[in-house]
Amino acid sequence: MRGMFITCEGPEGSGKSTHSRRLAEQLRACGLSVLHTREPGGTPTGEAVRLLLQHDGAGESPVATAEVLLFCASRAQLIAQVIAPALERGTWVVCDRFTDSTLAYQGYGRGFDLPTLRALNTFATGGLVPDLTLLFDVDTPLGLKRVHARTAASGAVPADRFERESLAFHEKIRNGFLDLAASEPSRFRVLDTTPAVDAVFANVWKAVQPHLPASITTGKAVDHAG
Ligand SMILES: Nc1ncnc2c1ncn2[C@@H]1O[C@H](COP(=O)(O)OP(=O)(O)OP(=O)(O)O)[C@@H](O)[C@H]1O
Ligand SMILES: [Mg+2]
Repeated sequence: MRGMFITCEGPEGSGKSTHSRRLAEQLRACGLSVLHTREPGGTPTGEAVRLLLQHDGAGESPVATAEVLLFCASRAQLIAQVIAPALERGTWVVCDRFTDSTLAYQGYGRGFDLPTLRALNTFATGGLVPDLTLLFDVDTPLGLKRVHARTAASGAVPADRFERESLAFHEKIRNGFLDLAASEPSRFRVLDTTPAVDAVFANVWKAVQPHLPASITTGKAVDHAG
């Protein structure tokens, strides 16, 4: 049976990476084969593109049009090399960011028209659409505060190109994601990540559990203490 494709989306610091990793662990604890990956990245080509996009790896910032195409290039590689083959062999895929981030950042944020971006997304993915999209939503200042705390805690790593954008830009992204979720309620689940991580994860699990195969009823809880 084909694996389930779950994407985690949302603005900066909303908890995508935290919860997508934890979700993958919890699904594995249920006995499923699970692949956790991220965008941009997830392949050698994609990780090279990530450096160009987020850290000006070529020594200059890509212009807005190049930015769209670089994200799509990373996505095309990830789909062809990793995601599609995994789903085909029955592995579940949990992906940290996907096509909705392009619509939110380059559409609502940078002002490209959504039909063009949707066409580019379809070109990059070959039409593959997530079975379930978890939208991690948080008040913009709180999300940015978390990112800055994370960056400070990690030492030398400088804030990436998107993290350095204005509060107004990040507000547009957040509202864009909420708009996208409202327009496709059957695919999206919106999760407020203001509460503590464990409380948020309980809601993540509630959203995913109904999709588990009938043979799996409850998963062994993964202990995150310590
Ligand atoms: N519900 C929460 N309460 C408090 N802190 C949280 C919560 N969720 C995540 N964090 C912390 O906030 C920081 C950002 O979380 P995380 O890296 O998961 O967000 P992200 O959405 O992946 O961010 P980015 O958009 O930068 O990739 C991390 O240090 C994480 O531990
Ligand atoms: Mg992240």
